[in-house]
Amino acid sequence: KVLGLRMHPLNEWITNQVLTRKEFADKLDISVATLSRYLSRDRVPKPEIMRKIIEATGGAITPENFYFIGNYKDVQFKKSFFGTHLLSIEVLNANEITSILDRSEYFIKPYENLLNSQKNYKNRTLINLFFEDSTRTKTSFELAAKRLGMNVINMQIETSSIRKGESLIDTAMTLNAMHPDILVIRHSLSGVPHLLADKVRCAVINAGDGQHEHPTQALLDALVIRRRKGKIKGLKVAICGDIAHSRVARSNIKLLTTMGAKVNVIAPKTLMPNGIENLGARIYNDMKKGLENTDIVMILRLQHERMHGSYIPSPREYFRFYGLDIIKLGYAKRDALVMHPGPINRGIEIDSQLADDIDRTLILEQVELGVAIRMSVIEHLISNTEN
Ligand code: CP
Repeated sequence: KVLGLRMHPLNEWITNQVLTRKEFADKLDISVATLSRYLSRDRVPKPEIMRKIIEATGGAITPENFYFIGNYKDVQFKKSFFGTHLLSIEVLNANEITSILDRSEYFIKPYENLLNSQKNYKNRTLINLFFEDSTRTKTSFELAAKRLGMNVINMQIETSSIRKGESLIDTAMTLNAMHPDILVIRHSLSGVPHLLADKVRCAVINAGDGQHEHPTQALLDALVIRRRKGKIKGLKVAICGDIAHSRVARSNIKLLTTMGAKVNVIAPKTLMPNGIENLGARIYNDMKKGLENTDIVMILRLQHERMHGSYIPSPREYFRFYGLDIIKLGYAKRDALVMHPGPINRGIEIDSQLADDIDRTLILEQVELGVAIRMSVIEHLISNTEN
């Protein structure tokens, strides 16, 4: 259980009605074990069960209060959490990941919740420091911070003093001297956010460092999976494509295995890094075998910006063997869903029609929920630095 959180509102409601868990579970046609997992925040109900909960409680429990875990000031996030920074997934345990996901649920319907939160952040500042291109991550950090009521500065690297020879560390320390609360850093070199986190007083969030980690991407992917499948534990997830150069793959393998999912990685030998099995993934070079019985298929882009040399015979050949289309998706479970961190390259790692199929593909949902995840991460970090 997440430490310090108050009793679940549904648990309170059941207790006040002098019902047993069994009696209430029967009303929903679910087992007591499943109900208990909802109440301990281990699992979230699927939409049809949520509807039954609203009906059975006469509207006393709604998605808003179901996911609500207290006002900002009331929330006692576990102190040891990820400390002052979010630099990698590997420092998070399952409870901490669950805490971030739960709090994101609160921000998904932001309108009334925003009014609660904004007053706490109006004197706070977040700086986006992106040394590498980004559409999704940079925009969603900006939106997340603005929705929380923070000031946001987007550093324009190409017009900054870095062009006059200022070093990375001097740039970070200069920004730090202006007392931001959070520095969001993306860099093409693995380890840069860690290096800068040692030099500054504010919280640092790793927004993707080389081929090392992209923690908020893995967290938002986990939120999408949990909402769609109702759980993460016990699922089988395939991550396919350019595993060798992918920080998204590394963060996702760590998060999914921590949460009890099984992970298959599928790539040609040239794009499969040595030792990836040490993170807990099973290795496949064949899509048919690797996709067998999987619930989620995550597809990765070929990351040419991190390649030095030739790794595939041709994009056409690559698509033939590793590009996901409706035929290859047929090797996975019938209800398997497709994810992609973006940006997508149509006709190379994913068939264009499949990419647009909203019944099978969650690409835009990943982007949408990325804002809520980042709001939750920002809130956790500010809460930690305050305590
Ligand atoms: N998924 C992701 O990191 O996308 P951007 O590069 O557009 O931020």
